Amino acid sequence: MNLRLLAFAASLRQGSINRRLIAAAAGIARAGGADVDLAEFREFDMPFYVAYLQAAEGMPRGAVEFKRRVQTADGLLIASPEYNYSLPGTLKNAIDWLSRMRPVPLRGKSALLLATSNGPVGGIRGLWQLGIPLEGLGVFVHPAMFSLAILRLRLGCAGVPW
Ligand SMILES: Cc1cc2nc3c(=O)[nH]c(=O)nc-3n(C[C@H](O)[C@H](O)[C@H](O)COP(=O)(O)O)c2cc1C
Repeated sequence: MNLRLLAFAASLRQGSINRRLIAAAAGIARAGGADVDLAEFREFDMPFYVAYLQAAEGMPRGAVEFKRRVQTADGLLIASPEYNYSLPGTLKNAIDWLSRMRPVPLRGKSALLLATSNGPVGGIRGLWQLGIPLEGLGVFVHPAMFSLAILRLRLGCAGVPW
């Protein structure tokens, strides 16, 4: 059986450069013989995690869908933007919802993390942060993270280089 991968970019932005990156990565993986489920992050739309919400209403639809797609895959390809030197809150929130499910759907999966950014280091700092909750939940994160800096020279930026 072919390797099954769930691939998505953790961006909701229409013109997302991480979506372009994940599409390229998915193409390479398919060419290598993998079955790739290329998802849109908006398919996993869910509210902020609150324990009482889970108790009162159960898991939100987007979290259940995320779980289903993770469970169907052997591994994950995630292209994540870097937000303020870290991972986007939306992605952390989705991981938090999965972490409340039993068994934890992420446990035992492998992951390759990718990022692109118009900041100076291509989003690698966000990937280091992303690896922490994933590894904490039992994901085998490949040490060779991929980051691509798309540099734009900006003058007079207000304290941030992107
Ligand atoms: C809230 C916010 C914080 C950001 N923080 C960083 C950052 O820490 N480092 C960086 O390189 N780029 C940062 N950026 C720029 C993003 O990398 C850039 O907007 C990128 O295009 C986002 O990925 P996307 O196009 O896939 O949505 C930030 C952007 C936003 C909106």
